[in-house]
Amino acid sequence: MERLWLLWGFLLLHVLCFGFVCTSDKNWKILKNNIANSIKAYKPCNPANCGCHISVLQDDLRPFEGGISEDFMDSTVKRGVGTHYQIIGHKLYREHNCMFPARCSGVEHFILEVIDRLPDLEMVVNVRDYPQVPNWVQPILPVFSFSKTNDYQDIMYPAWTFWEGGPAVWPIYPTGLGRWDLMRDDLKNSAAQWPWEKKEPRGFFRGSRTSPERDPLILLSRELPELVDAEYTKNQAWKSEKGHFGKPPAKEIPLVDHCKYKYLFNFRGVAASFRFKHLFLCGSLVFHVGDEWQEFFYPQLKPWVHFIPVKQDLSDVKELLQFAKENDAIAQDIASRGRQFILDHLKMEDISCYWEKLLSQYSKLLKYNQSGRNGYNQIINKFRKTEL
Ligand SMILES: *[C@@H]1O[C@H](CO)[C@@H](O)[C@H](O)[C@H]1NC(C)=O
Repeated sequence: MERLWLLWGFLLLHVLCFGFVCTSDKNWKILKNNIANSIKAYKPCNPANCGCHISVLQDDLRPFEGGISEDFMDSTVKRGVGTHYQIIGHKLYREHNCMFPARCSGVEHFILEVIDRLPDLEMVVNVRDYPQVPNWVQPILPVFSFSKTNDYQDIMYPAWTFWEGGPAVWPIYPTGLGRWDLMRDDLKNSAAQWPWEKKEPRGFFRGSRTSPERDPLILLSRELPELVDAEYTKNQAWKSEKGHFGKPPAKEIPLVDHCKYKYLFNFRGVAASFRFKHLFLCGSLVFHVGDEWQEFFYPQLKPWVHFIPVKQDLSDVKELLQFAKENDAIAQDIASRGRQFILDHLKMEDISCYWEKLLSQYSKLLKYNQSGRNGYNQIINKFRKTEL
């Protein structure tokens, strides 16, 4: 009889442990093992010559190994899915129209930095948020986009926003998140003001409702405000209070002020979210929701090593936040590895270097000599460096 009670007790404990309430060591063992194994398996990449990210451009260019003919490039240009650029004799030319001039300018900044080392080439650059070459399009068109999922074959380039270009966030970033070099400095300073011990042990998110995937976190924040503070801001996607769980929009919070919190959330927006890289520099622990949307530097950031991966439906978020709170040293460790990765491997030089490698490799695929088009403008640097 006693044995039977013991068995019941054991079973009951077991059931509780599968819920969120159980915080026994047994439950955290799985997470701790995941983390330990991921760290053990992690091989730091070679930082020389932006080598960390090289496999990404190799993968992206693989579909074009057979070469790109002049006719095929012509038909790609005619699709109108991006802006047509040419490099001829170390000069950059562009068709007159660009859908978002500041974004084109953010792209051109980096190309002009390395143009003396680039051979002749032409390319189509999509400056919209969304990728343009779904897998079912055959043959695969050579189109450059900043972000994609596995369902797309676009060639990823470093987003314009490393230099300039929207979307704007009113009123804090009226021309968009730009100047990654300046942002890096601002965030480093803010991180110094908010060392780990001073940070509030709570999750934090402010952003607009560009995707309903963000909803469960807002709802969790209403239920457990001591665990997470998450609200929608107004911005482009704001429709009505009804669609936003009955509250007026929250105030926009500059990224530097995110550093006050230990746990920061990154979600996809329309495509990948530009803020991912910024969040790491706070020295806070990044909770990255979903793993579909990519930018060129994402594949080298590893779950459990550099950030906490959260399921797209957020079903595990409460447990993961609880884990981080109860295992502060582990959380701090992941946060500082993530920060160090961005400091070491996502410098301005790495962005220019990636552009140079990408375009050099890509140019080898073009099977014809370039001839300049009529009516294209030469793009020149708006500023000399010394004037900045
Ligand atoms: C391109 O131009 C070079 C030098 O003018 C010439 O040797 C080469 O054959 C040309 N290639 C093609 C594919 O026309």
